[in-house]
Amino acid sequence: MLMHPIRIAPSVIAADFGNLGADLARAEKGGADMLHVDIMDGHFVPNITFGPDIVKKIKSLTKLPLDVHLMISHPRQYIPAFAKAGAANITFHVESEDEVSPALHDIILNDCTAGLSVKPGTPLTALRDYLGRLDRILVMTVEPGFGGQKFMPDMMPKVEEAAAWRKQGGFRYDIEVDGGLDNTTIRTAVKAGAEVIVAGTSVFGHHEPAVAIRELRENATSALS
Ligand code: DX5
Ligand code: ZN
Repeated sequence: MLMHPIRIAPSVIAADFGNLGADLARAEKGGADMLHVDIMDGHFVPNITFGPDIVKKIKSLTKLPLDVHLMISHPRQYIPAFAKAGAANITFHVESEDEVSPALHDIILNDCTAGLSVKPGTPLTALRDYLGRLDRILVMTVEPGFGGQKFMPDMMPKVEEAAAWRKQGGFRYDIEVDGGLDNTTIRTAVKAGAEVIVAGTSVFGHHEPAVAIRELRENATSALS
């Protein structure tokens, strides 16, 4: 039996912001398990998305838990605001400019679960000291900054490593992948041990997000059987 079931997390930045309520409702009715919310500051990554006020608006449009992914240089400065805006989970990058340990503490103090992420060029060993404190490990499968990029299969050894460490150490974190997930790459990702699947383009770029979510789930299940 799987320790953590497969969960599909449509990425809001791929939704139609002119019709956000309708798109988010389609994802929710279509069986999404959570919504992935990408925060970019134009400094940690070369793109800018939005801040806590928009996250609060997103929260008002859905019952799904919000999985907030901070691609920002100074997560500590903003963790309380994103928590207050309605985040259920907050994930930040080990490569950010803030110290990891106090940032994890801030997330827990603000009643959210805590995730830590690695960019493609960062080895998973960068997370080693924090494993017992994590609810989620996010292995980036593209260079963070933009949706619609190509999945990097060479990140799968990191997913396998995260799964092996969890087994050995009895840790509780789940394993998330983000970037380029579609009906083909989801099979590779779940076989390596990924459980939380971020999917932007493949869900909101589909004419019917519910169908996209169902197909992703079917591919994940059949790849594991
Ligand atoms: C990339 C973001 C991803 C992105 C995924 O920096 O973190 O969440 O939205 O989009 P797709 O699924 O289109 O690769
Ligand atoms: Zn993301």
